[in-house]
Amino acid sequence: MKKLLLLFFALVFSLTAIFAQSGTLEKPMIQKSLYGKLKDGKEVYEYRLKNSKGAEVNIITYGATVVSLNMPDKNGKYADIVLGWDNLQGYVNGTTYFGAIVGRYANRIGKAEITLNGKTYKLSANEGENLLHGGKAGFNSVVWDAEPLTLKEGASLKLTYVSPDGDQGFPGAMTVHVTYTLTNNNELEIRYEATTTKETVVNLSHHSYFNLSGDPHNTILNELLKINANSFTPIDKEFIPTGKIEKVAGTPLDFRKPAAIGSRINDDFEQLKFAHGGYDFNYVLNNYNGKVREAADVYDPSTGRYMQVFTDQPGIQFYSGNFLDGTQIGKDGIAYQKHTGLCLEAQHYPDSPHEPKWPPVILKPGQVYRQTTIYKFSTK
Ligand code: GLA
Repeated sequence: MKKLLLLFFALVFSLTAIFAQSGTLEKPMIQKSLYGKLKDGKEVYEYRLKNSKGAEVNIITYGATVVSLNMPDKNGKYADIVLGWDNLQGYVNGTTYFGAIVGRYANRIGKAEITLNGKTYKLSANEGENLLHGGKAGFNSVVWDAEPLTLKEGASLKLTYVSPDGDQGFPGAMTVHVTYTLTNNNELEIRYEATTTKETVVNLSHHSYFNLSGDPHNTILNELLKINANSFTPIDKEFIPTGKIEKVAGTPLDFRKPAAIGSRINDDFEQLKFAHGGYDFNYVLNNYNGKVREAADVYDPSTGRYMQVFTDQPGIQFYSGNFLDGTQIGKDGIAYQKHTGLCLEAQHYPDSPHEPKWPPVILKPGQVYRQTTIYKFSTK
């Protein structure tokens, strides 16, 4: 009898242990919900991707935009580490590109004009005479189709947009796929693909504003940044590259060794002034050969959060949120002050269509544009 009783308890104990364990072993998960409706009645959906560790990303079909990203700190406490608006209206009216996919041409094209095979195309100018992030109605402001996928690496969302021939002045109808995967290793991986029906230019990027402290009452000035770039493309007063490539050595733009973002941001250096008081520069990444390599990393000493950026792109735009000025009321009603977030936008160099010596941005029919960028999160 005693033996039977012991056996019974042993069985109950092991079953409880098994259930308790399977309760903590989460499966990657994707949930869809209605996020809002545009003026014309078009529905915008939100997809919640969760990985096996409990990290989460929320993506809306408007602009293929990351609206929140929850990652743990060194004590395992989760917080949202990207800036964003509270609702769809914010994304429609906002001019900050929070979390969006930017294209057809991320960053700037001077005079909003390109010439291909002797023919000049007038593009949509939306920053003075120049084009920024695809023009007045870029990829950040259209509704994408979405297809959830459960991959072995984690939860994934494939977004598709077909941009018509002549969209924002660009030649060729362009089909674009952007696939976000939240891997079980706490990486947000972004894969891009584009094809065209006529020769055109393309440069796609992702525009999340990270604040690794997880509390946007803080600025990013104490976060330590490293960029694997020996040089950058200097700009003029209108943010258009001068065409030169200059060394970062001996300037406040040198992040070859980790440095606090705020440590030299107010230095008397003309480029920082041109950039509206801070960093807004394309860094020429070292070791460009079309393969994915580490481009940059950011560390927040207060929470231990650490982000590494890997990309196959030739450049990365480091933007320190210089145009945030407290008038942007974001999630939870928080007013975003200057330097509340930082962007690391992997891309081709700005204004490349006018710089024949720079890595080319031309896409022809039959070719496939591909890009991979990975934001990897951990703690130290
Ligand atoms: C990019 C640009 C900045 C600014 C932001 C959006 O990162 O380089 O100059 O326009 O987008 O506010």
